[in-house]
Amino acid sequence: MHPLIGAMNEQANNQYTRRLSRRTFTLCALNSTQQLSMPKPKKNPLDALELKPGQSIELLKALHIVTREGGINQDSRRKLKQVYHLTHFIDPLIEEVRKANDGQLYLVDHGAGKSYLGFILYDLYIKQNPEGAVVAGVETRQELVDKSNTLARQLGFGQGMKFINLPVAQATEHPDLPRQVDIVTALHACNTATDDAISFGLKKQAKFMALVPCCQAEVATHLRKNKASQLGKTSLVEMWRHPLHTREFGSQLTNVLRCLQLEAHGYQVTVTELVGWEHSMKNELIIAKKHQHSNPKAAQRLLDMLSELGLGGDEGLLQRFHVPQL
Ligand SMILES: C[S@@+](CC[C@H](N)C(=O)[O-])C[C@H]1O[C@@H](n2cnc3c(N)ncnc32)[C@H](O)[C@@H]1O
Repeated sequence: MHPLIGAMNEQANNQYTRRLSRRTFTLCALNSTQQLSMPKPKKNPLDALELKPGQSIELLKALHIVTREGGINQDSRRKLKQVYHLTHFIDPLIEEVRKANDGQLYLVDHGAGKSYLGFILYDLYIKQNPEGAVVAGVETRQELVDKSNTLARQLGFGQGMKFINLPVAQATEHPDLPRQVDIVTALHACNTATDDAISFGLKKQAKFMALVPCCQAEVATHLRKNKASQLGKTSLVEMWRHPLHTREFGSQLTNVLRCLQLEAHGYQVTVTELVGWEHSMKNELIIAKKHQHSNPKAAQRLLDMLSELGLGGDEGLLQRFHVPQL
């Protein structure tokens, strides 16, 4: 083709494309104006909460997830999302216990705080069939215990929910709690309260435990104390030589020892990430199910670990992570 004809064709093409895009733009603009002028269906802000049938709005208001005006408090909503996520793991455990137990259930939540977990569990999975089921919360802050007891009465949950002002370590002997319980939960119970909850569960022969541990400083303190003496003995000390690593390794080791302890006492243990907990670093979920009397291999493994890390002589840790007699 002659170069002049080629250039003219190209110019004609460009003009056509410009006309076309102007027309498309006008049409789009027209569409969006038309859409804007159409009345939009009103959105219910509560839709974002994905409410279940029969779920109590009064409870969500009391937990400050829904505001007085019917809006949503975004911070609390995040908390609700997290608690929902955890309840999905606990609901099947409740069902299994009640099925095997003629409807009976005793669940104790340790370090209950404002008791989001206990209330949501009761509201979603228990209140429809409350006969024989109890959800108890253990919490050291008196004002939170009082508020939760009042709220339970207001919602008509008083028959099946109670809150006790107590450190977890003293809960085993408390006369208001039964000799045996079915499920133990502890969601971000501070420091060693998770370990106390495990001890409680072991003594009360809990069938299930669901634990989302908080930071625990005790094991890191023991590692720090023994660091100098371990330097010449094992190169493994590099795992916790730097102070930041002492804290992180201490935290990791704590959860490993908790799992071994549960296994030593005959529990089958699953460790998983609590997805949806992206706003918290503490998102490890330990679910334990009692399935045998005890497991001497796991007990030996726990003792070997303590010894290899130079912690075998620490009476405090041996008591903390106590295992059945070998
Ligand atoms: C981080 S908050 C978590 C509260 C609640 N489980 C939640 O996730 O919303 C920890 C709660 O445990 C309580 N707590 C801490 N140590 C405790 C202990 N040894 N015994 C009982 N409660 C404890 C605190 O008062 C606090 O309310």
